[in-house]
This record gives sequence, C-alpha cells and structure tokens, in this order.
Amino acid sequence: METEETIRTRRSVHQYSDEPLDDETLTELFDRTRRAPSSFNLQPWEFLVVRDDDNLAELQEIANGQEHVTDAAAVVVVLGNLDPAAHAAEVFTDWAEKGYLPNQEEADGLTQHVESWREQDTSENRLWTAKSASLAAMTMMTAAWDMGIASCPMGGFDGDALTETYGTDGYEPVMLVALGYPAEDADDLEREQKSRRSVEEITHFESFEA
Ligand SMILES: Cc1cc2nc3c(=O)[nH]c(=O)nc-3n(C[C@H](O)[C@H](O)[C@H](O)COP(=O)(O)O)c2cc1C
Repeated sequence: METEETIRTRRSVHQYSDEPLDDETLTELFDRTRRAPSSFNLQPWEFLVVRDDDNLAELQEIANGQEHVTDAAAVVVVLGNLDPAAHAAEVFTDWAEKGYLPNQEEADGLTQHVESWREQDTSENRLWTAKSASLAAMTMMTAAWDMGIASCPMGGFDGDALTETYGTDGYEPVMLVALGYPAEDADDLEREQKSRRSVEEITHFESFEA
C-alpha cells in the first residue's frame, strides 16, 4: 500500500478473523515499529505480545471487558520504560561512532545528563516515556495496516492491575493495541469513516487562539 493510502484508510477495527499472527509476521511488524523516532533515540519501549487464549481472557478483564481483546489475534501491551537512561550509554556511543557527536567524551557527558533525569518527579518521566512509546504504537498500527493487519488502540484498561499481573514495575503501561486480520464483514470497515475536524480548525499559524 502507498503510505498515503495506508494513513487515509486505517481505522480502529473491533472484529477480527480467526487467522493467527505468526512469529515471522510479528518480527516484520516490530522491525518496522522500531524505526519510530524517540526522545534522544533512547527507545524507551517494550512490547508485550499476548496471543494465548487464556492470557487474552485475563487481559480482557483488565481492559474493562472489551470484547475485541479476545477476538484479536494478538494484543500488544505497549510499555514505556520509566528509566530514561536505560539504554543511554549504547545509544550515545553509537552517536559518537557515527559522527552525531564529536567524540566518546561527549557521549559519556550526555549519558550522565540523561541519568540525572532519574531524579525527576515520576510524572515527568511518565510523560516523557509515553510520548515516545505512543509514536511507536502509531508506527506499529500504520505498519500493521500496510501489511493488511487491522488494529485498535486501547486506553481503557486498569494500569495498576496490568502492572501487577505482568510484573511490569518500572514501566508505564502506555497503551494496548489489538491486532489481527480484519473479519470479512468487520463493521468498522463497512461503515463510513468517523469524522475528523477540518484542517482549518486544527491548524494555527504563528499564533494560537483556542
Ligand atoms: C489514546 C487512545 C485510547 C483509545 N482507547 C480505546 C479503547 O479503550 N477502546 C476502543 O475500542 N478504542 C479505543 N480507542 C480508539 C478510538 O476510539 C478511535 O481511534 C477513534 O474513535 C477514531 O476512530 P478510528 O481510529 O477508526 O479513526 C482509543 C484511541 C486512542 C488514541
């Protein structure tokens, strides 16, 4: 699919076929997903893929009983690392090696700077990680649709229950994303797309008036 068509035709789908998502397909999907931009390229994301029926049923309870959680071939829990410096040293060494930084000393200095963010208020780091993880989630949904795989992002879930169930302390449960090949008669694909606010309404040039 052309990028424009992918962006214009993607929509949240709630009904999926029984076709599974195999490892090879998911590997291709995450290879595309990991190309997403992130703050300082720190890639503070992890993707927990749930495909097992029992595990999906458990996840459905956490997601307020949303039906498409068990209908989907997989649900991806998008996690945002609350430690901004988790991958800083390797990322900035790569920058120095490729000339994005003048030398390794600068890389070490930048690593120390990012390490100082560990002292920030948790809410700062939650927002910080959610920004990059959300871009990754959108990249994943766009890439999926390009591969013929439908998706539905979900914010309706109990974050504390999710953290407890999967033992993901130290990670912000940013979003769930249902994935699967769409059912042949999926309502969401048969209906007219949901409305969008106009370009004129949402764009502001040079100054902002609500
Ligand atoms: C942050 C966020 C949270 C969402 N939460 C849910 C959800 O819990 N359940 C659901 O079915 N859809 C959820 N959606 C999907 C939206 O309802 C959907 O994107 C919106 O209605 C626009 O429709 P479209 O994606 O088909 O264009 C969520 C979307 C976003 C971006």
